[in-house]
Amino acid sequence: MTLNKAIQELPKKGYLDLPLPENLNLVEEINRLRKEKNAVILAHYYQVPEIQDIADFVGDSLALAQAAAKTNADIILFAGVHFMAETAKILNPDKKVLLPDLLAGCSLAESAPKEKFEAFKQQYPDHIVVSYVNTSADIKALTDIVCTSSNAEKIINSLPADAKIIFAPDKNLGAYLKKKTGRDMLLWDGACEVHEEFSLEKILQLKAEHPDAKIIAHPESRDYILNIANYIGSTSGLLNYVQKSEAKEFIIATESGILHKMAQLAPGKILIPAPPVNDENACACTECPYMKRNTLEKIYLALKYELPEVNVEEQLRKKALVPIQRMLELS
Ligand code: 13P
Ligand code: SF4
Repeated sequence: MTLNKAIQELPKKGYLDLPLPENLNLVEEINRLRKEKNAVILAHYYQVPEIQDIADFVGDSLALAQAAAKTNADIILFAGVHFMAETAKILNPDKKVLLPDLLAGCSLAESAPKEKFEAFKQQYPDHIVVSYVNTSADIKALTDIVCTSSNAEKIINSLPADAKIIFAPDKNLGAYLKKKTGRDMLLWDGACEVHEEFSLEKILQLKAEHPDAKIIAHPESRDYILNIANYIGSTSGLLNYVQKSEAKEFIIATESGILHKMAQLAPGKILIPAPPVNDENACACTECPYMKRNTLEKIYLALKYELPEVNVEEQLRKKALVPIQRMLELS
């Protein structure tokens, strides 16, 4: 495979499919390239351990957007999914933003297509649109204020008490917020295919086997999981809870990548991943297939050839920037 052919195939494959030199020390090469090119590697907690370990910064969606907003690097390599890299580009039009695999999408972002959402919004012209950061730039451009799971409650509560709100695209997070804040919220019918899959039955079985374990869940999970959770929070919220809690055992209903950082930050605690309904993984855990598209090999190739790049058309970028900046000012 030549470089030209690999570039031609990039839209279809998502990444540069090139052979790597034998005996290449990937970590050393990534370190050399990031120094040479003044690149920063930002990684989400759902990335595989070896990516989290080489990242300059590992965080939740909010912390990653904040890190992207203040970096001095010339290149941002985003080890996460497309909407995260796109948000980084919206915040940094003059920097190069690389995503190791363009097909690292997100089922939540996919669940809100632009035309359908625009038509929905037009039916409720007196509503304020709050969108989860897991959306495309097109949806952000139709949004009044963006939120993440870390700050969603704060953002909703910052709106006038009588505000009518459209919340998109996650109906599970939306229903949770509606219940918590008591606000007038219309929910878009979207969901995360990963968090929707947790099995209530299997979690209750684990709880019976570990009666002292605390059940903790990400708010993208279904209501019947959230109803039995001792704590509900964003990925960073879940990490903090496990670190600070007196409990020794935890059943964790979020993507299993988080267990790596949790084990590092809370050594000695017993971390049990919540299983999905269709349990085909040997780990009996739940993995996001989009987050897991990234590999050290793809990161090396992306840094070496500065591809694939994420770009946002300038008019769209300016519109999408406004609700992101509102969120960052409030966070
Ligand atoms: P947070 O890291 O903001 O909790 O988001 C989880 C998620 O699903 C990211 O795609
Ligand atoms: Fe999207 Fe769900 Fe994967 Fe997060 S875990 S990136 S919300 S599909």
